[in-house]
Amino acid sequence: MSTAPTTFHGWACHGKDEPMVWEELKLRAEDDYSVDMDISHCGICGSDVHTMDANWSQPDYPVCVGHEIAGVCTRVGSKVTHIKVGDRIGVGAQSGACHQCKPCLAGFENLCRGGPRAWVGTYNGRWPNGDKSFGGYADRWRGDARFVFKIPDTLTNEVACTFFCAGVTTYAPLKRHKVGPDSVVGVMGIGGLGHYGILWAKAMGAKVVGMSHSDRKKDVAMELGCDDFVVTSDAESLANHKGELTHILCTGTSSDFKWETYVPLFRPNGIFINVGIPEWNFPEISPMLLAMSQVTICGSAIGSPAEIEDMLKFAAEHNVRPWLQKYPMKEAPKAIADFKAGKPRFRFVLEN
Ligand SMILES: NC(=O)c1ccc[n+]([C@@H]2O[C@H](COP(=O)([O-])OP(=O)(O)OC[C@H]3O[C@@H](n4cnc5c(N)ncnc54)[C@H](OP(=O)(O)O)[C@@H]3O)[C@@H](O)[C@H]2O)c1
Ligand SMILES: [Zn+2]
Ligand SMILES: [Zn+2]
Repeated sequence: MSTAPTTFHGWACHGKDEPMVWEELKLRAEDDYSVDMDISHCGICGSDVHTMDANWSQPDYPVCVGHEIAGVCTRVGSKVTHIKVGDRIGVGAQSGACHQCKPCLAGFENLCRGGPRAWVGTYNGRWPNGDKSFGGYADRWRGDARFVFKIPDTLTNEVACTFFCAGVTTYAPLKRHKVGPDSVVGVMGIGGLGHYGILWAKAMGAKVVGMSHSDRKKDVAMELGCDDFVVTSDAESLANHKGELTHILCTGTSSDFKWETYVPLFRPNGIFINVGIPEWNFPEISPMLLAMSQVTICGSAIGSPAEIEDMLKFAAEHNVRPWLQKYPMKEAPKAIADFKAGKPRFRFVLEN
């Protein structure tokens, strides 16, 4: 008979516009690959807010969000070999995959196509047995070791947690699209993801242009390492950068986004990488604009476990560290209100 806990306490959201409540919820069942963690820290991601506010789809309320989780391992299943009790560990936005489909076998578990309940989100998901998945605005978490990472000695838990979503979501596509010393990267939307985008692109040797919807973040963007700064709502400011960029990493835009505004900013064969997931669609693009710019438009989803390991190594080698502001776990509702007010500089982290 297992002595493992069967419940945890966390911030539950029961519906759009309803306040989160601290309550007891059920942990998923244990299995050979399960890992238990006492949570020390959890970052606040834009996706947490989209989910609670039902921006993408109707969530499986109650949800307990949070997918930048760090803490200490308290229990492991019989098949877990890379983690032991007492280790400092972390998990990001994905907690499960089928491990058998073509993307999984090719090392892209983040693109798993194993069917319903194969791709398990760290929250607002269902494990294959039907149990709900719950995130890190909580005291305790149980998940699958195949998506759990040992935190390197060089990183504290409060710093490490933010790497598991914001960090890898920006690192993986910049690496995949070969950002380097010859690149000029526009980073659009300077929030949690965007500030990481700037830090990574600089560490990869690129020139970086911060692209923000107002001038409020100009000074901090330059402090983050930007070589230049553009206000995207100012046509003249944008026009000064025509033909300059090799890449744009887009983490946030307004709903009046137009391809005609951004495609001319590229050098030939530019790459527009979208990682932001707003509730609206991108507009149509004219075939002529596509042909005559040879622009590549693509997206990217978090990162695979291998990309997360690669990112942690790169961060250690290049001393990449996020900027964060901490809130006690009990003040999560205030942190969410401040997040919605655009206050993060640049990632909020909840601390138990
Ligand atoms: N692809 C993935 O795997 C993945 C993973 C994690 C998150 N996401 C998504 O990425 C997005 C960003 O997440 P985040 O945690 O970085 O959020 P965040 O900290 O709020 O940053 C988003 C930034 O976008 C800009 N922005 C937001 N609303 C805007 C508006 N109405 N008009 C113009 N600019 C606006 C703001 O930057 P400025 O003030 O500088 O303009 C803001 O700081 C979210 O949609 C989230 O769901 C995707
Ligand atoms: Zn996230
Ligand atoms: Zn799969």
